Amino acid sequence: MEIKTLIQTAIDALPNSYVPYSRFHVAAALLCKDGTVYTGNNIENASYTPTVCAERCAFFKAVGDGKREFEAIVICGGLHGVITDYCPPCGVCRQVMREFCAPDDFKIYLAKSPEDYREFTLEQILPMGFGPENLEVN
Ligand code: THU
Repeated sequence: MEIKTLIQTAIDALPNSYVPYSRFHVAAALLCKDGTVYTGNNIENASYTPTVCAERCAFFKAVGDGKREFEAIVICGGLHGVITDYCPPCGVCRQVMREFCAPDDFKIYLAKSPEDYREFTLEQILPMGFGPENLEVN
């Protein structure tokens, strides 16, 4: 799939965020290795801490649907759904990515538009991460 198409999918999902407290919309488009795409949005809560980020929403939708292998994720966001800058994933979302993705085999795209984006590997944004392999008994 073309990266520009994946970015447009994330941008189109921005209105779906449930953000009555921060008004900061975030959307993600997660591309599975089989070509399936899952979108995700941040979903806030009156009790604040149950809030889930867009990236985890996308991963949990996909994993709950039986997907386990992932190619890339596009992330975009901004106040009132207006994108003015790149929207980097929080530390918790990086750790969730690490659960399902090898550090050198998953791309993170931070997008302002289909033409304006930055590309990172998981290794770059989560160096020396703790993953499932660390729990394996030799
Ligand atoms: N947010 C995300 O959805 N993803 C991130 O990685 C950063 C933060 C959301 C959570 C909250 O609803 C809003 O942005 C402000 O923090």
